Amino acid sequence: MSIRFDLTYTDIDACEFENRFDQLAKANQELMNKTGIGNDFLGWVDYPVKYDKEEFGRIKKAAQKIQNSCEALVVIGIGGSYLGSKAVISALTSPFFNEEPRAKRKAPKIYFAGQNISGKYLENLLALLKDQDVCVNVISKSGTTTEPAIAFRFFKRFLEEKYGKDGARERIFVTTDKAKGALKFMATEEGYETFVIADDIGGRYSVFTAVGLLPIATAGIDIEALMAGGKSAYEDYNEPKFEKNPCFQYALYRNELYNRGKKIEILVDYDPSLEYLAEWWKQLFGESDGKDGKGLFPASVHFSTDLHSMGQMIQDGPKNHFETVIVIDDDQSDIKVFRDEKNLEGLNYLTGWEIDAINEKAYMGTLLAHVDGDVPNGIIHLKKLDAFHIGKLIYFFEKACGLNGYLMGVNPFDQPGVEAYKKNMFALLHKPGYEALTAELEERL
Ligand code: PA5
Repeated sequence: MSIRFDLTYTDIDACEFENRFDQLAKANQELMNKTGIGNDFLGWVDYPVKYDKEEFGRIKKAAQKIQNSCEALVVIGIGGSYLGSKAVISALTSPFFNEEPRAKRKAPKIYFAGQNISGKYLENLLALLKDQDVCVNVISKSGTTTEPAIAFRFFKRFLEEKYGKDGARERIFVTTDKAKGALKFMATEEGYETFVIADDIGGRYSVFTAVGLLPIATAGIDIEALMAGGKSAYEDYNEPKFEKNPCFQYALYRNELYNRGKKIEILVDYDPSLEYLAEWWKQLFGESDGKDGKGLFPASVHFSTDLHSMGQMIQDGPKNHFETVIVIDDDQSDIKVFRDEKNLEGLNYLTGWEIDAINEKAYMGTLLAHVDGDVPNGIIHLKKLDAFHIGKLIYFFEKACGLNGYLMGVNPFDQPGVEAYKKNMFALLHKPGYEALTAELEERL
């Protein structure tokens, strides 16, 4: 099994779920038949089987072109327009990807921009790339998001000054709506190569579209295998038998713990390469669940690092949380502890132990300690960390998130709450059209 969900270390007995099977089956049907709430955003459900093969081919060609002509690719986007690709690239490449020699990396360095409004970040990135050959993939579904629009203004000028308008055009790749938005308008006007985000796929569900695929392919990752993982998940997680469907099990487990009063779900990993997968997961569940005063607060910790910071709170703090642990069953490396003649730090008892095996003991020890501290632990076992399995895991979470929204009675595919800050920011920046709000907010500050 590529993904297995283990309920052993929760205080839930799987039999307790039986009275909720009908509800789960209904949610699954509404999702798969695209008849549930928010069904105008269910394009992601069958995307791994129905994706546009012509565009997929163009993505692979564009990735090759970027690989051949650039030392660095700057991916400009925010939220769902960058977290998925960052998550997959971080999970499947070396932790020191950008620092590795090109011959080993076999791909350009990948940088991200437009995911914040930090002048310091932007200035330093532009300075770093000054003497390098750069390509840009600007991604915005709406085509109007402020953060990436600001970053792109700088990188467009950067490329035009370096290569001229025609040269820059060869190095700019746009991923946006097929017809609307300022970015689409600009791409048409300037003649940039463009990839489309389908109308019925929201940002946080867009990893399998050009949004995720172009940066991922440019990093040298096998996107055919990633899609195959998504397709396999689409098929496997439609399995009606609860005991055979880990996605159903995960969706019900987190919903059940929520109903029992838990307020926070903490996603736990034991490898820094999963740090951004957790960031993507937080966005997925945070934007999907958090509505009408409902929802589990999605948090993440990276062990063993955070055992030395957050471990205390998880073990002994208020019991309002549970942990979902991602365990990768295959070893990532076979590096072993070696014997030291003097043994001054007393570590010789570990001679011959693989570092990964020590990490596994840290996981097992922590699991038992946290369970003893009354923190339920659900375990997601991922067989391997490769493109196929990451594709499968991404779809696993997307589907569980959709199911969970339906179980909670919220629309998991919109994000109306995100608009509030935007309106205030525009008003405070004196954007035309916001005059009344500007006056009201300035009065309050
Ligand atoms: O999941 C979402 O819809 C959001 O996080 C968006 O991805 C994010 O706000 C960026 O939007 P856009 O791609 O329109 O620039």
